[in-house]
Amino acid sequence: MNTEHTRRRLVIGNWKMHGQRAANASLLDGLRANASAASACDLAVCVPFPYLDQARAGLQGGSIAWGAQDVSKHEQGAFTGEVSAAMLADFGCQWVLVGHSERRTLHGETDLLVAEKATAALAAGLTPVVCVGETLAEQEAGKTQEVIARQLAPVLALGAEQVGRVVLAYEPVWAIGTGRTATPEQAQAVHAGIRSQLAALGVPEVRILYGGSVKASNAASLFAMSDIDGALVGGASLVAEEFLRIAAA
Ligand code: PGA
Repeated sequence: MNTEHTRRRLVIGNWKMHGQRAANASLLDGLRANASAASACDLAVCVPFPYLDQARAGLQGGSIAWGAQDVSKHEQGAFTGEVSAAMLADFGCQWVLVGHSERRTLHGETDLLVAEKATAALAAGLTPVVCVGETLAEQEAGKTQEVIARQLAPVLALGAEQVGRVVLAYEPVWAIGTGRTATPEQAQAVHAGIRSQLAALGVPEVRILYGGSVKASNAASLFAMSDIDGALVGGASLVAEEFLRIAAA
């Protein structure tokens, strides 16, 4: 058990492309009404763009923050379909996911683009949650650390001042939405590797979340690890009670 965890825990829900106004309203109400059960950590939900205003209206003034799941690297202009960091800030977002594996895999986002998106988010006063993680094939080939280092390189190149203001999320692709979680020891080993890269840069206190099939039943054992500072939660964030039970862990 880790008794000297100094970094404040953070649990972020990633709704992905789920939601509908009526269902969102009851989810947001459920979160808001019971958030005090999880007051020992920072909590946020990252919702689809069209529901940002609904999240703002439902959560404003409470202890749960909100954010988006992607952002443009551009400030403004002729970029049809893109959403800028300033627009997210305009809706009261504090958080934005960048480089989620679904964006990297299905939308061709490169390591460099992810770092550029993180920069755009920081410039608008948002905290980017930079996601990294290896595929099953990469893991089986023993390339986990190498892949993470490659994904992180352009982000770490932003320098200590910028990196000190991000949150990182380690999400092994083989654990996302599969019900297959990394063991606490597996995740801890990767987090420790990331932590030493952060320490080399002079920012050892950056929070590193774990993501990939986190649920109430496995959260406590993950959070017991010294370098796991919280979770990025997909499926289980769509049920208020389950999400808050993770946060309470
Ligand atoms: P999951 O998703 O919790 O449903 O595995 C995590 C994520 O993709 O952020």
